[in-house]
Amino acid sequence: MTRVPGSVPPRVGSGSNGAAAAGAAAAGAAAASRAGTSAAGPASAAAPSSSTVPRGPRAIDELDVLIRARYPIIYVVTWEEERVEQQLARIATTRNKKLFVWTCTQGIVRAGSEPQSSKSGSGSTSDPLAALDTILSHVEPALYLLKDFHPFTEDIRCNIATIRRLRDVAYQLRDTYKTIVIVAPMMRLAPELQKDITILDFKPPEVADFNRLLDRIIEDVKDKPQVKINLDADGREKLVHAARGLTLREAENVFAKTLVIDGKIDADDVSVVFSEKQQIIKKSGLLEYFASQEQLDTVGGLENLKEWLVKRSMAFTERAAEFGLPSPKGVLLLGVQGCGKSLCAKAVSSLWKLPLLRFDVGRMFGSLVGSSEENMRRAIQTAESVAPAILWVDEIDKAFAGSGGSGAGSDGGTASRVFGTFLTWLGDKTTPVFVIATANDISHLPPELLRKGRLDEIFFVDLPSEAERVEIFRIHLEKKSRVPDGFDLALLAKRSDGFSGAEIEQAIVSGLFDAFSHGIELDTPTLANSLAETVPLSKTMSEQLSRLRSWAQGRARPASGTIATGSTEVRRKIEL
Ligand SMILES: Nc1ncnc2c1ncn2[C@@H]1O[C@H](COP(=O)(O)OP(=O)(O)OP(=O)(O)O)[C@@H](O)[C@H]1O
Ligand SMILES: [Mg+2]
Repeated sequence: MTRVPGSVPPRVGSGSNGAAAAGAAAAGAAAASRAGTSAAGPASAAAPSSSTVPRGPRAIDELDVLIRARYPIIYVVTWEEERVEQQLARIATTRNKKLFVWTCTQGIVRAGSEPQSSKSGSGSTSDPLAALDTILSHVEPALYLLKDFHPFTEDIRCNIATIRRLRDVAYQLRDTYKTIVIVAPMMRLAPELQKDITILDFKPPEVADFNRLLDRIIEDVKDKPQVKINLDADGREKLVHAARGLTLREAENVFAKTLVIDGKIDADDVSVVFSEKQQIIKKSGLLEYFASQEQLDTVGGLENLKEWLVKRSMAFTERAAEFGLPSPKGVLLLGVQGCGKSLCAKAVSSLWKLPLLRFDVGRMFGSLVGSSEENMRRAIQTAESVAPAILWVDEIDKAFAGSGGSGAGSDGGTASRVFGTFLTWLGDKTTPVFVIATANDISHLPPELLRKGRLDEIFFVDLPSEAERVEIFRIHLEKKSRVPDGFDLALLAKRSDGFSGAEIEQAIVSGLFDAFSHGIELDTPTLANSLAETVPLSKTMSEQLSRLRSWAQGRARPASGTIATGSTEVRRKIEL
């Protein structure tokens, strides 16, 4: 569907479920603030204030509050229909209401009644219009959970009758003790419904939920002699924290899997939990789990950047948090093509021992599934669900090209809205997701990204200096199993003035081809020759480079400790 900017219906965050109310009040407050964050997308921020839901002190009871305040139709966005149903059942019991469930196969049935074959179900209400009529005709106080109703609220022509009926029902339910709760994994809402339906983001389960789940599983298997439970408080904490971001069902699956694999549950099972998270990332289709072998010592030069990164290696530990360190937000690596920006992103993942998630923004825009804004939200949620993690947004300038300025680009402002969602998240995020963005060109980047506070630092990655080039030759010769000391590295570094790391690597490869075809071993002259045959990009793009350099001066921190030679500047040819 196409969504009209600024007309997204009121969206409120929910804490997890009622049972999680056992969590500390502080956790509730944190959940509330997180929920606030997720609701603060630019589009939803623009929703009219008259229709926003007043926030109670404890976000965890949001669903209960909305029902008691008689919001007629609530749309809960979550995969976890079971948890929603459980929570509704609790609310129904305390408020003395009946709970009905509608599915398109069963029609309306009392919650908890035995599932029947779809043929014998109450077929008369399986049609959405008939179901809505039945809801209207019921008299007693009741809650109606509609599962998979979202195809009927979508903005397509054939839904026109259902949409109209829903609006009528919303109006009529206001004076009754009946509430409709639609639960669906994604939001599909026609613009006509936006004022009648309240959206609730159902937060993923919290540590307390996982603890309860683990207790239940342990209780279930404790009499089986072949199963060993070896969990001290520390191990349990690790396991439960690793499970954060999974749905309860996914967590149950993965705990069961650990039992099946080795007949025990202990702290080592954290790795099994992480492998489950890779699955989540794969399924999301927007992020790519990037397993990288690159180490920081395979990056030549860039001492300032490396030092900055090394200093923050322990920043995501509990100890650092106790010490009062905020978790780093992210960096922007700005600079010349082929100078190691992407390489650094890969290396930092192994340095910090955190999963690296590559965010393919282009694919997000091009995706046939869901709108770009929803995809952005989903990508962010996925990244947060596996936190702590590194979110690598490669070539952010190209990804969001067109999002700058008034926002009314050729795409109707989609890029700018999506980028706005990203920036809002970046500014407010409290989850330990470290963002590494890389860019070649600042002219496409909206200034908001460069504002202080969004990211921790902007590094300018220039062409390598002579000393750095020696290092880069050393690294790549070693990678090709050659002994670097057998080469005149000083000479090669001199001859490669203006070359990027990628071009040096390329020159070595073409030197290897030359040597191989001539039947000789790779040596300095062959390499010098292949350097001479290469015209580095910095020569052809010298103007762009000087523009970038002069922009970076005073605005960005140099990634290298040493200054690159200015060989690429356009030099005046004076005839003497
Ligand atoms: N400083 C460096 N040290 C070692 N190798 C390097 C360095 N810079 C670049 N390389 C080599 O060049 C390759 C390409 O570099 P990388 O992909 O990191 O460039 P980039 O800065 O991301 O460029 P682009 O802006 O085009 O994306 C690397 O995989 C690496 O082999
Ligand atoms: Mg790159």
